[in-house]
Amino acid sequence: MTLELELRDLAVDIAREAGDLARRRRQEGVAIAASKTTLADIVTEADREVETLIRSRLAQARPEDGFLGEESGAEEGTSGITWVVDPIDGTVNYAFGQPAYGVSIAAVSGRPEPTEWEALAGVVVAPVLDEVFSAARGHGAHLGERRLSVTAETPAGALIATGFGYDPETHAGALDELRKVMPIARDIRRAGAASLDLAYVAAGRLDAYYERGLKPWDMAAGALLVTEAGGRAGWLGVDSWGRRLLVAAGEPLFERLAGVLSD
Ligand code: IPD
Repeated sequence: MTLELELRDLAVDIAREAGDLARRRRQEGVAIAASKTTLADIVTEADREVETLIRSRLAQARPEDGFLGEESGAEEGTSGITWVVDPIDGTVNYAFGQPAYGVSIAAVSGRPEPTEWEALAGVVVAPVLDEVFSAARGHGAHLGERRLSVTAETPAGALIATGFGYDPETHAGALDELRKVMPIARDIRRAGAASLDLAYVAAGRLDAYYERGLKPWDMAAGALLVTEAGGRAGWLGVDSWGRRLLVAAGEPLFERLAGVLSD
């Protein structure tokens, strides 16, 4: 078995356990523990508990790897591999009792910076629908056992998802971007969980997804799902606040979106 497959299988087991914990805590009723930077940027007790579980499972299985998590921060390892983790992506949905949230776990090598790393394995679990999206570099992307492919052609009107980030500067840019993208879209979705948006592009449930200002843990697993499903996930220009724009789609639509968004 290759290292990539080993890392993927470990991530699948841990993400399933983490997803079960998140779902149970949700059923018990969950409290918002704190607002981080803005009203929408929240954390619940469950986010912290689920990240603690993932972190300790990874430390037991691979003590030499590094870790970068949304809630508990970064720790360097010695193996050259870092786990990039969002314990509950879509926390606002989670807190409001909506099903579109996911557990996202990726293993990357190199510096844990999205423009520099090489993703080796990635898993996104959607606990409410009991769906497990997984990818290992060079081995494709799967939903359960089924191999995934992005949509092949640029459809006449693409179903395109996006997200708006949480701060006012990102909101202003998002409105400009929406104005550019709407004319080529069949419709737009803002489901509220970047990792699932990317998993849905990989599964052909969306034609494309773009968002400015994503954090590494929002996209590490999902971007690998897209590339292993035959698509492209790439960063476009940096804005004046240093935020990059991630675009993910099949190749023809990627080019078209990149053109429209760079105008
Ligand atoms: C957020 C979600 C959302 C996206 C935000 C992310 P979180 O992650 O993925 O869809 O628009 O940019 O920060 O805070 O729920 O883990």
